[in-house]
Formats: sequence, structure tokens, C-alpha cells
Amino acid sequence: MRIVKLGIGLICLMVLLPQSVGALVAGERPGIHYADQVLFLEKKIVADGRVAWITLAYEDPRTSKTCRNFFDVLGGRELFSDIPEKSWLLVDFELRSLVVDSGFSGDADVASVLACNDYATCCRERDRRHAARPVEPSPGVEEKPRQDKPTQGKPLTLDEVGERLLVGRRLVKAARCRGCHTLEGFGADHAPSLTWRRHKYEPNWLADYLAAPYRMRPAMNNLMMLAYTSPNAVPNLQPAELNAVADYLQQLGWMTSPAKDFRLEPWQNYNCFDCHTRLFKEKPLTFAPTSLSGPSGEKTTSTAALRTCVACHAFGDQQTATKLAAPMALAPDLLLAVEKLQIDYLQAYLEDPGYVQPGSQMPRLNLTEQQLLELRQLFKQLKEALAADEIKPVHRYYRMEKESVE
Ligand code: HEC
Ligand code: HEC
Ligand code: HEC
Repeated sequence: MRIVKLGIGLICLMVLLPQSVGALVAGERPGIHYADQVLFLEKKIVADGRVAWITLAYEDPRTSKTCRNFFDVLGGRELFSDIPEKSWLLVDFELRSLVVDSGFSGDADVASVLACNDYATCCRERDRRHAARPVEPSPGVEEKPRQDKPTQGKPLTLDEVGERLLVGRRLVKAARCRGCHTLEGFGADHAPSLTWRRHKYEPNWLADYLAAPYRMRPAMNNLMMLAYTSPNAVPNLQPAELNAVADYLQQLGWMTSPAKDFRLEPWQNYNCFDCHTRLFKEKPLTFAPTSLSGPSGEKTTSTAALRTCVACHAFGDQQTATKLAAPMALAPDLLLAVEKLQIDYLQAYLEDPGYVQPGSQMPRLNLTEQQLLELRQLFKQLKEALAADEIKPVHRYYRMEKESVE
């Protein structure tokens, strides 16, 4: 509890600092856990009849006026829809990423919200929950916190985490990823956008992919992601640097208002596309579909909701790219997408692709609750089959260099 308090203290401090730099997240990655916090719902921003953002103030705004925050409540729209503005709340949620930048914003996964009539009632309820909670988690049954890597030693301070993410940001600039990708809202669009609003990838997926990129988009026949570990890459990135880039992408990929100096990045002059498409033509890389013929594959054919998807997406060897039109070049093979994406991201994306990934070329499908549930179950089954090696995904790696003679 003390750690949470400290976290909030620091946040308040940083809000007070004008022009505070960079980003911050909790020491315990990938986010700050607000368990049983008494907050004041100041404002709701409602778009299309759904709660899109809320502003929360910490504790009693009469005593801590500056501590308020915007939250993207993607996971908690329903929870907040019935609660009027100017209400006291007891909330239990996690922040996945948050950024200090001309104001203050965050992305929140809300687990529960209890509206109270007044501050005192909320506090009483919080204390009651604390009293009911076991003091020590019993060994062995301890719930694993969601995080990308085990945190070793003492958690990083917010400043240290912010600094680490800035390193990733600088590396992205040096490696000129914007020559092909959009990041933090700006850059070219020759490759999939790297701007999204949520914790997106499975742990370690990003660093592994950056170290050895493979083909995911079968209809993309003009360009390939390059290996920055190659000695030909300028700069050539070391494993620790790839980790820093991966952390930065995972935590801050959804930011759309970068600090002023990053705006000045002259990415329009990065002409990577022309040359690399020419090189790619000389040595193309086609997609190899994964076989889904086993028992887990059969389950997938019975998922009715999937039929809409395969109009645009390849899906292992059950739907191959040959029938798919070029405008859908950015649509990845669904099996490889399920492998890389967190299940909550998949669900959020299906509900509203353009919101989760600004500028997404996938239309909103208006799936029913039933269809969403059906797909979620299918994705879970696929993930289990992948983890159990029942499905062996084919990853086709790109080698630019001519084969070396040994
Ligand atoms: C020459 C163009 C080019 C450059 C430069 C480039 N990429 Fe890519 N990148 C691609 C293409 C094309 C893909 C899609 C490959 C596919 O899915 O088959 C891709 C895919 C990715 C993906 C996978 C996204 C997903 O969810 O499918 C990530 C992450 C990524 N790139 C990060 C980076 C980073 C970080 C840099 C800079 C260090 C970078 N890229 C530089 C072309 C490029
Ligand atoms: C004038 C043509 C040209 C332009 C422009 C160009 N590249 Fe390259 N790039 C190459 C060649 C040639 C190689 C090395 C090919 C080889 O390994 O045989 C290469 C290799 C790379 C590699 C290493 C990949 C590997 O597997 O060896 C990366 C990463 C890369 N380029 C990124 C970029 C980025 C980012 C840009 C835009 C800022 C860019 N390139 C612009 C020609 C170009
Ligand atoms: C009208 C064509 C179309 C249909 C139908 C469609 N998609 Fe997509 N989907 C796309 C395109 C295009 C993209 C790439 C979006 C982008 O990067 O801009 C995409 C992206 C995605 C992504 C994000 C992948 C990533 O790498 O970030 C997921 C997940 C996804 N689709 C799942 C589905 C599922 C599940 C269905 C069926 C319920 C479906 N899609 C139906 C065209 C479609």
C-alpha cells in the first residue's frame, strides 16, 4: 500500500512541474496498480453514447487539487456508464501506461468500480476490504503479476523508468524506423502502424521479433521488416538496445503527442522505401502458411464468426493469401496475429479497430456480444494449442544478404 501511495505522490509532483519531460510508468511493470483507491469522478467524456475518457481526482480534491488525471477507460466503459459526474468512487484498476505531456493521460484497465455517496463511505468500504484481505499471500498460490520480464532487485523509480523509455525513443529515431512506420502519430505508412492505444503484445514477443523479423502479412509483397541486428544496419542494434526499443514501443506506442523536439524529426527525408522495395523485388520473401489440420484446427472451422474475417485475412492453410486483394496488404495472417497479441487487445481491437489503432484500415465490424465471445474462446484455444506445440507456426525470416559461401 505504501508503494502505491508513493507512486501517487510522485505523480502529483510531476504534474506540478511545468514541462515535465518524458514518460513514466510504475516500478512494477507494466503499470501502476491502483487497488482500492478513493477517487472523485470529475468529468466523463462520452462519444457515440459510450464513455471514452474520464477525469479522476485523487483522494479529496479539497486537499489535493492538482492531482487529477485523464483516463482512457477502454476496459471499463460499461462500469462508468451509469455513474454520474461528481461522484465518489472506489476503484480497483491498473494503469498500463501513462505519460506526462502537456497535461497527463493514461490507459486504464478497470476491474471494479463502486460508487459511494460520499468520501467517508468510500473510505470505510476500502478499510473493510483491507481488513478482509489476507496479510501474507500463502506460498505457492501467489498470483503472478502481469509483466514482461521478472523485475529483479528493487523496482525502478519513475525517473529511472522514464529515462529508460527515452533511450528507446532515441534509438527509434536513430534507426529511422519512421522511414517505413508511423510512431507516436507520425512517420511513413509503408509498413504497419506502430501507434496504438493499448498494451498490445505478448511478453517478449517484440524483442524477439525485432531480433529476427519474419513474414506476417501474406499479401504484402513489396517490402519486408529489416533485421537491425545485421552488421549492415546503421545503426546496428545490440540485444539490450532492442529490449529498450521493445519496452518503449510497448509502453508508449499509443502516444500521439510527442515532445516538441521529436516533432522536428525530418522523417520525410528518410527514403527507405524506394530503395528497399527495389532490393526486395530482387530477393522477395513469400508467406508460408501454417498447417491447421490437427485437432485444434478442426475447432476453428466450426467458429461461425470467423467467416467474416477470412474475407480479408489469411488464416493458416485454411485461408491463403492468393485470394486476398492487395488493398488488404496490411491484414496479417490471423494465426500469427493471435500468437503475438494479448487476448484483451484482440478483443478491444475487434470492438473498435480505429480507436485502438488510430488510422486502422480494418473497418469496425459491429460484432455481437455472442460473436465476440465466440472469437475470444477460439483465440484462447489457439493460444493454448500454440503453447502446447500442437500448432507449430511457420515463421519465415528475411535474409537480405546474399548467402555467404562457407
Ligand atoms: C524498410 C522499411 C522498414 C523499416 C525501416 C522498419 N520496418 Fe518494421 N516493418 C516493416 C514491414 C514491411 C513490416 C511488416 C512485415 C510483415 O508483417 O510481414 C514491419 C513490421 C514491424 C513490426 C511488427 C508489427 C506487427 O505488429 O506486426 C514491428 C514491431 C516493427 N516493424 C518495428 C520496427 C522498428 C522498431 C523499426 C526501427 C528500428 C522498424 N520496424 C523499421 C518495414 C520496416
Ligand atoms: C540507396 C539504397 C538504400 C536506401 C535509400 C536505404 N537502404 Fe537500407 N540497405 C541498403 C542495402 C544495399 C543494404 C544491405 C543489403 C545486404 O545486406 O546485402 C541495406 C541494409 C539495411 C539494413 C540491414 C538489413 C539486413 O538484413 O542486412 C537496415 C536495417 C536498413 N538497410 C535500414 C534502412 C533504413 C531505415 C533506411 C531509410 C532511412 C534505408 N535502409 C535506406 C540500401 C538502402
Ligand atoms: C474488410 C476486411 C477485414 C475484415 C472483414 C476483417 N479484417 Fe481484421 N484487419 C484488416 C486489415 C486491413 C487490417 C490491418 C489494419 C492496419 O494495420 O491498418 C486488420 C487488422 C486486424 C488485426 C490487428 C492485427 C495486428 O497485427 O495488429 C486483428 C487482430 C484483426 N484484424 C482481426 C480480425 C478478425 C478476428 C476479423 C473477423 C471477426 C477481422 N479482422 C475481419 C481487414 C479486415
